[in-house]
Amino acid sequence: IAGGRQVIQSKRIGGAMGTSPMNADWWPNRLPVELLHSQSPDANPYGADFNYPAAFNSLDIEAVKKDIFEMLTTSQDFWPADYGNYGPQMIRMAWHAAGTYRVADGRGGTAEGLIRFAPINSWEDNGNIDKSIRLIQPIKQKYGEKLSWADLIVLTGNCALEQMGFKTFGFGGGRIDAWEADDASYWGPEEEMATQDKRWEGEPGTDEYDLENPLAASRQSLIYVHPEGPFSNMDPLSSAQEIRITFGRMAMNDEETVALIAGGHAFGKSHGGSKKSHVGPEPNAAPIEAQGLGWLNDNQHGNAELTTTNGIEGAWTSNPTRWDNEYLENLFKYEWEQTTSEAGGKSWRPKNGVDADRIPDAHLEGVSHPPMMMTSDIALITDPAYREICERFLKDRSLLDDAFARAWYKLTHRDMGPKNRLIGDEVPEEELSWQDPIPECDHPLINETDVKQLKQQILSSGLSVSALVSVAWASASTYRKTDFRGGANGAHIRLAPMKNWEVNNPEQLAQVLSVLEDIQAEFNGKPGDKKVSMADLIVLAGAAAIEKAADAAGTPVTVPFMPGRMDALEEQTDADNIAVLEPLVDGFRNYRKGQYKVETERMLIDRAYLLDLTAPELTALIGGLRVLGTNHDNSAHGVFTDKVGVLSNDFFVNLLDIETKWQPVDEDKEVFEGKHYKTGEKRWTATRADLVFGSEPQLRQVVTAFGSEGGNKRFVDTFVKAWHKVMMADRFELKNALYR
Ligand code: HEM
Repeated sequence: IAGGRQVIQSKRIGGAMGTSPMNADWWPNRLPVELLHSQSPDANPYGADFNYPAAFNSLDIEAVKKDIFEMLTTSQDFWPADYGNYGPQMIRMAWHAAGTYRVADGRGGTAEGLIRFAPINSWEDNGNIDKSIRLIQPIKQKYGEKLSWADLIVLTGNCALEQMGFKTFGFGGGRIDAWEADDASYWGPEEEMATQDKRWEGEPGTDEYDLENPLAASRQSLIYVHPEGPFSNMDPLSSAQEIRITFGRMAMNDEETVALIAGGHAFGKSHGGSKKSHVGPEPNAAPIEAQGLGWLNDNQHGNAELTTTNGIEGAWTSNPTRWDNEYLENLFKYEWEQTTSEAGGKSWRPKNGVDADRIPDAHLEGVSHPPMMMTSDIALITDPAYREICERFLKDRSLLDDAFARAWYKLTHRDMGPKNRLIGDEVPEEELSWQDPIPECDHPLINETDVKQLKQQILSSGLSVSALVSVAWASASTYRKTDFRGGANGAHIRLAPMKNWEVNNPEQLAQVLSVLEDIQAEFNGKPGDKKVSMADLIVLAGAAAIEKAADAAGTPVTVPFMPGRMDALEEQTDADNIAVLEPLVDGFRNYRKGQYKVETERMLIDRAYLLDLTAPELTALIGGLRVLGTNHDNSAHGVFTDKVGVLSNDFFVNLLDIETKWQPVDEDKEVFEGKHYKTGEKRWTATRADLVFGSEPQLRQVVTAFGSEGGNKRFVDTFVKAWHKVMMADRFELKNALYR
């Protein structure tokens, strides 16, 4: 009792929830399965049922824009506007919010307003964007839940462009804010901000210079490239190389890249007015009294002409708050020499003091400066292909107008997925190839009787359960919630390049598609307008096969099915755009295209994250797909059953068998053999994507639930629920109907 009292009375408290060391500190390489449940609706103060698109639709967008226009030219004391106009810094805010997007996994981008959270809010490259976000906060407060931060950020960027004389291509709303930091995105291997020594291979300027995937930024904590060139080498040609690689990683071609940079740098200035030593810590490291602001500058008033952001000082044009072509004119007009700012930022100015007083100061009357270019700007006239585009844009401004408008629209809307996810009066009519267009449904849909009859026909066609489930899974599982791309709708699986992907087992796929096409032709040939699409038929075939497999296991189920998918036309499909959806490692089908640095099991949970699966859903799907025999090459890895094609819980029961001892059989430890402990008799083979379900503690608990008494029924129900979720993941037109 005495000891207990002492504990209670002691004032020495050293830690609480979240104090290091935590599991991730003890075991940095552990598999963070719990990230599958991050971004929980529980974190949303509006509640899980809040319908943002409906709320957005009730907005008077003209009134919002009027408020934004007013904000842009109302300078605030805490952060005085350069040239009396916040437009340029708002364009940079929207560009940086969107510019994190990358095609390889669809992560980054504006769609959830992640620029408000760590780590992105505190990246070196996002210096002083916290001030831009603070400046639009009153508008956010005025419209509350009807206007997400993410929509407000993009709309403000658009309004800034419009107010300074640029005609934008349009604006689509519907971005749903995240409510917590995103820890599920990998931003590069360096553990120190502002370094780039681990992500590149080869030397800048050589053909070997290559950036690690899925990254699209040249340095840790940058959006794209450093303005001073690779490793700050001030070399325009290798800067062009980095620009091409990084902009390419977000599917911007040369013309779009030049348009974006030339368009963006027609506005605003760079800030290097104080020594960097005056600039305080970034928002996440700032003291509590800074109230979320970072980079506070202790040089006198610490803003306006004294602002240091990047460190480079100067403006590109003489009228940085007007849309014109002076950026390109200046690039070609001068010979450029290197210069260094007060803050130590290295850039370029016209040689020999030419036009040293051409650019008015952003704050001080009667003070002027020479035009400024960064190494990454000079890159555009040094690289021959970029230069040719610059020359074209310079000659005919309307080409730049159109290219910048379209590229800006793509930049800020790319991670919103298909056009039917965009809402509001300013959504452009034109559908763009990067939006993966699919024709609108123009015929009556199949009813329950048709579904029943089609299922019977499919099951009696001679195709195996394994083949049918494999094709349906292949069709739908390209979906990724990060940019709303992929999925079963459109049946892109019939077309190149998807039909040729090794992971899709092209031979088996062709066989299944040909049988399904015959069934489709027969059905659609009947009198009447009713039709079934291949996209629907593929999904229906999967459902029929699963029902058969569940029946055989003695746990009959009905797999839900909702028709209405359409087939994408070959001529509206951009093969390069689809190509980035190809899985290079796909644990769901025990597939690896090559040997990669990342563990197979990490790639598996990454893919599960993209599919929006919970740990139980992931586990059920793997256990089900294995016993249904859907490995890409029909191998036996992880097929822990002697009844392939029956939806039993054998995968779990056999994985839990305490009599089995596992040993790797290859040097890379990708394939394993399970033998009986005592007899040494070989029982199963498996990959890392199978065995992780026995080794990782959280997954092992789910496996135990499915592999124990009563687990079979629970497994089948979870499998069907997860299966349906994946099949329906891209049915945005149905989700839209809910909020119209
Ligand atoms: C400003 C670099 C592309 C729009 C800046 C600054 C840097 C920079 C260093 C100065 C930041 C500061 O100190 O305040 C780059 C690099 C790019 C790039 C290296 C790619 C190679 C773009 C693009 C856009 C854009 C694509 C928009 C489409 C702007 C604007 C400003 C700016 C509007 C002025 C901000 C202000 O006045 O406060 N850029 N940028 N930039 N950038 Fe870029």
